[in-house]
Amino acid sequence: MAHGLLKGKRGIITGALNDQSIAWKVAELAHAEGASIVLTNAPVAMRMGEINKLAEAIQAPIIPADATKDEDLEKLFTESIGHLGGKVDFVLHSIGMSPNVRKGRAYDDLNYEWYKQTLDISAMSFHRMLQAAKKTDALAEWSSVVALSYIAAQRVFPGYGDMADAKALLESIARSWGYYLGMEKKVRVNTVSQSPTMTTAGSGIKGFGGFFGFAEAMSPLGNAPAEDCARYCLTLFSDLTRYVTMQNLFHDGGFSSSGVTPEVMARVTGE
Ligand SMILES: NC(=O)c1ccc[n+]([C@@H]2O[C@H](COP(=O)([O-])OP(=O)(O)OC[C@H]3O[C@@H](n4cnc5c(N)ncnc54)[C@H](O)[C@@H]3O)[C@@H](O)[C@H]2O)c1
Repeated sequence: MAHGLLKGKRGIITGALNDQSIAWKVAELAHAEGASIVLTNAPVAMRMGEINKLAEAIQAPIIPADATKDEDLEKLFTESIGHLGGKVDFVLHSIGMSPNVRKGRAYDDLNYEWYKQTLDISAMSFHRMLQAAKKTDALAEWSSVVALSYIAAQRVFPGYGDMADAKALLESIARSWGYYLGMEKKVRVNTVSQSPTMTTAGSGIKGFGGFFGFAEAMSPLGNAPAEDCARYCLTLFSDLTRYVTMQNLFHDGGFSSSGVTPEVMARVTGE
């Protein structure tokens, strides 16, 4: 049920690849809550064509942008202001990719060219995006920026490889930009640390079924579904959370605060 939580707000949503994507759910729900949206993704992702269905359903223009290219990002913000009819009230960074993880290179045997790409696509892109937003003066006062993270930024999860380092950098970038943009324009910047979720990026991780099942068994509420992650992002885009900034916020059914659960204990002891 919609509440008009984002009525009159203008947003940019990155990373909607298919209807499994967390960004896809955010776009659908933000639209239902009254927001006007611009969708963007890497030109290569456009070729899959799925995003066109979403764009049609929520009447959103698509502006292709490779998040590792400054000129693409500046164009994204400039053109978005034109499409939306004013400055941007919210931005979702929902971008992640590691060539090392994709090609099965373990953390102790990284290809460093790929490592650079992992950091560039999954973390530095967030810095680039906010720098482009500042250069084009695209963000409205009291606007809200959210990037999606994962608890591997704080704890080791073998298999998540160099993406762990990218997420640690992403969360640090959120804090730093939260300071600069907060001082300048009251813009808030946060990361949402989401449960393992069955998406294209998620299931690209070796042993993802194990990650998913372990987190499910360790979380009092169970893993948080993508749609609920989207709902949480909407609260952060809304005016109800105007003083929340520079935080990494866990949206994980309680996983991050759990030591052990009877279910996990039973699996270990076999009792
Ligand atoms: N799925 C999970 O288990 C999980 C858990 C926590 C956090 N996250 C994070 O959520 C975010 C969204 O991932 P998802 O799970 O919805 O998967 P997804 O595969 O649907 O989304 C990843 C997106 O990144 C985009 N992308 C890749 N390279 C890009 C580039 N150079 N420029 C622009 N876009 C590019 C892809 O096209 C895709 O749309 C990622 O940051 C991911 O790390 C996912």
